[in-house]
Amino acid sequence: MTPQKILFDVDTGIDDSLALLYLLASPEAEILAITCTSGNVPARQVALNNLNWLALCGAPEIEVALGSEVPLLAPLMTTEETHGPQGIGYAELPDSGRSISDRHATQVWIDAVRAHPGEVIGLVTGPLTNLALAVRLEPELPRLLQRLVVMGGAFDYKGNTTPVSEWNIAVDPDAAKLVFDAFSGLPPERAPIIAGLNITERVELHPHHVAELGRVAGSEPEEVIAADDAPGTRSHASNPVVRHLSDAVRFYMEFHLTHDQGHLAHVHDPFAAALAIQPELATYRAATVDVELGGTLSRGQTIADWAGLWGREPNAAVAVDTDPEAFFAHFIERVGGLARRVAESS
Ligand code: BDR
Ligand code: CA
Repeated sequence: MTPQKILFDVDTGIDDSLALLYLLASPEAEILAITCTSGNVPARQVALNNLNWLALCGAPEIEVALGSEVPLLAPLMTTEETHGPQGIGYAELPDSGRSISDRHATQVWIDAVRAHPGEVIGLVTGPLTNLALAVRLEPELPRLLQRLVVMGGAFDYKGNTTPVSEWNIAVDPDAAKLVFDAFSGLPPERAPIIAGLNITERVELHPHHVAELGRVAGSEPEEVIAADDAPGTRSHASNPVVRHLSDAVRFYMEFHLTHDQGHLAHVHDPFAAALAIQPELATYRAATVDVELGGTLSRGQTIADWAGLWGREPNAAVAVDTDPEAFFAHFIERVGGLARRVAESS
């Protein structure tokens, strides 16, 4: 099998971290580079988090490039209350000793699609700032990519940042609109896949999933994340990947619990990553997607015109249905297997 070339743009981030582990664990994916944008935490911290996860997993020296440290026009928002002071919850990853690339993220995007025209899948699980900047410099980028997959937006569904806006879009709505506009006019099978909150909030990671992942990894003792544990309780897992993953995820579960969503975590980004290499895990509906920039209350809202009322061709394949447990079975087998291999080789 020839692995799929992936350019991964992130704001790591607890769920971006899970997406990275999933891709590292998947033989269908070859990560060409990781480009970092400010979002959950500032871009420089995002880059360090990625380097540290790569080293922890014994991954090769995949390029990690810094991108825009601020959105196109909007003032930067970050959300340490959701993802922890460094963006990885309670996890404290060992310093990788690896370096951030000298290249700017936009250059990485452009060079990758020019070097491999029609072969690269762009996967964005953070704000769309870097991609928007790259498209401005290389307007052919949407046609040079094989396909774009984005975690972002909320379609006929409530927001998580404002009542109508999802975080990745809310951080940089101007970039999101630029990207959706630029990716218009592609054939339907190449229209960007968009995983919004309408589907990703159905992908609920529960403590029993983490326990199962620990078992697959051969980690001991049983990994328990209980709702009544003291906040900040730390994992004693023998397996280092399981231990750090669990410390990261525990923080995310506590956040969801204190925001009345239950003792669980919505794992938006690994689900989007799975769609990049296993698109059959969801069903899709074609729509024309646009972003509200002008509204005083609705700025950052993603609007899907399902019925063609705007008279514009569809520019997105919006993920509308999935079987979350099929995804989790796949995710646990992959990431648990990676964790087991890391422990065996150390
Ligand atoms: C998205 O926002 C971020 O906080 C998560 O990493 C995810 O990409 C969900 O709205
Ligand atoms: Ca993210």
